[in-house]
Amino acid sequence: MSVNWALPFEERIVPEGAHNLVDIETYHKLHRLSVENYKEYWASIAKELPWFKPWEKTLDDSNPPFYKWFVGGELNACYICVDRHAKSWRKNKVAIIWEGEPWENEKAREIRKITYGELFREVNRVAYLLKSYGLKKGDVIGIYLPMIPELPIFMLAASRLGVAFSVVFSGFSADALAERMNDAEAKLLVTADGGWRNGKVVPLKQIADEALSKCKTIKNVIVVRRTKEDVNMAQGRDEFFDKLMESVPQNVYVEPERVKSEDTLYVLYTSGTTGKPKGQVHDVGGYLTLLHATMKDVFDIQDTDVYWCTADIGWVTGHSYIVYGPLMEGATTLMYEGSLTYPEPDRWVSIIERHGVNIFYTSPTAIRGWMRFGEEWVKKHDVSSIRLIHSVGEPINPEAFRWLFKLLGREKVPFGSTWWMTETGGILISHTPGKYLVPLKPGTNGPPIFGVDADVFDDNGKPQKPEERGYLVIKKPWPGMPLTIFKDPERYKQVYWSRFQGVFYAGDYAVKDRDGYFWILGRADEVIKVAGHRLGTYELESALIQHKAVAEAAVVGVPDELKGEVPVAFVILKQGYTPSEELRKELNLWVRERVGPIASLKNVYFVSKLPKTRSAKIMRRVVQAVVVGKPVGDVTTLEDGASVEEVKRAYLELQKEVQG
Ligand code: WT7
Repeated sequence: MSVNWALPFEERIVPEGAHNLVDIETYHKLHRLSVENYKEYWASIAKELPWFKPWEKTLDDSNPPFYKWFVGGELNACYICVDRHAKSWRKNKVAIIWEGEPWENEKAREIRKITYGELFREVNRVAYLLKSYGLKKGDVIGIYLPMIPELPIFMLAASRLGVAFSVVFSGFSADALAERMNDAEAKLLVTADGGWRNGKVVPLKQIADEALSKCKTIKNVIVVRRTKEDVNMAQGRDEFFDKLMESVPQNVYVEPERVKSEDTLYVLYTSGTTGKPKGQVHDVGGYLTLLHATMKDVFDIQDTDVYWCTADIGWVTGHSYIVYGPLMEGATTLMYEGSLTYPEPDRWVSIIERHGVNIFYTSPTAIRGWMRFGEEWVKKHDVSSIRLIHSVGEPINPEAFRWLFKLLGREKVPFGSTWWMTETGGILISHTPGKYLVPLKPGTNGPPIFGVDADVFDDNGKPQKPEERGYLVIKKPWPGMPLTIFKDPERYKQVYWSRFQGVFYAGDYAVKDRDGYFWILGRADEVIKVAGHRLGTYELESALIQHKAVAEAAVVGVPDELKGEVPVAFVILKQGYTPSEELRKELNLWVRERVGPIASLKNVYFVSKLPKTRSAKIMRRVVQAVVVGKPVGDVTTLEDGASVEEVKRAYLELQKEVQG
């Protein structure tokens, strides 16, 4: 759990530049109506989308928790994001502004602006190409690309055909890629020669090759040339994208497939507490409905806006709020390839100034990183175009909130912290400056959006008292919810719908204050958030025990000033191995190679014993308390299945080992 600061429940900020202001009582009154009539409410939003065929049933809830939204309806996500704008006055409007990372000299600077008309042409051509591989509705393709325009283009082209895709973040390792591609049974992989990050080339094709040697289902690989490095090309399997496109006619038209509302748009993997990553399956109709509602209400998107979400499309934030959300609204979405502080700490502010960004969506880790460089870097640029800010990914500390609110928000623009997760498809708890705005508070997530019934439960599944910690739950189905976990419906039921009867368990600790604002405090399970990215401690532990020297391992998250949380490992060595600084480094490298660079261990403690309950569960809170120096009294009541005495003893033993 990462919140270790006081929550300013009583503070209220009314941004002077905001419209749609209401007091919290009015908000709750109107919100309650939307929740009582949630099916009608969501149907009224969905009606604003161009369906090929209207739905017959708003919600099929006959087989919970496998809910289906807008049953009988037919639509196409690519048509909604591209065709309808390309066939309108938006044809020459910029859909995507892309800025590449390299910035050393004037000549290396790359900016691409793709209009809706051009996007239509490219997406059709790529759809034609994918079709030539025989791909069709029901198939899955894998995408392992850096932040270049081809990434959204391939996503859109796949959805045009009704082909599902699974994007793997380009910072993931070969093992992580192979595991996901095998689970998804991907038939084709789209990757690149490399990607730019912090002035260096990430050798994506090389990593993909290593993964491909373990992938059973991938028969073809399309390689986009980005860095122009020499790469190995397997004969009969790999082709360069630009080469392939030479034989695709310039103005082909590929009819968008009429897919069912509850067909699969994509599968995106998330870390869990046990076992392999879970493939979250998202539908088309419900997902787009939630994105439409939140683009309007949370982001207040207007046709005149330049909108920038700083996430990577490899995560759900980018899927929803760089690609599908903004494009379905016909907005101009900015996509930046690399590090926000490369080559200088003010790169991100220079992008805002250069492109006149109006709406800015970023993360607490990014903000804390900028704070370290000092406010002078922000002040070098004109940021007066900014009219709305949101944050996402982890709890935002009030200090970081205030810093960005002052420097970027000039203390007058709405600034919120939107809560959601890969599973929810889109934002569920947030301020809604595009609809009704209630006063801000530094660090809060605000109230749930309309149509969403959220609550905080105690251990027994009863509503928790205000200002007391409990578990975040969603009490009614919402559009955008997962269809299931790919190929594992039982696990879907068990992970999200069995902790409390009939409600969705998010896995987060939360408190609700007296105004009904939510404050999400961090994960209640064995998932940690490193720089806003989700990492299952289990994945790190299984990587560690694959090492020849490791007998047992426990990984816990500890607070970190910059990244929110970082993993530390406790390792019991096998007979014949002795602790050393080298081994520590080796184990760290080992984990990074198996999981990816985000899995960097802050420390490795060599111990002779791990504290366990009688049912052999590692007492994680004891382990964590020892690292952060929390008194044992704070943990004795939290560890299930162990007596206070046992916890105390385990704590002291471990403490002795760590200090000794
Ligand atoms: C977890 C989901 C979907 C956005 C990117 C992360 C944490 C997310 C907030 C926020 C406090 C937040 C939760 C959640 N989280 N947004 N605004 N305030 N915590 O998606 O990787 O699926 O992670 O991120 O702990 O459960 P994700």
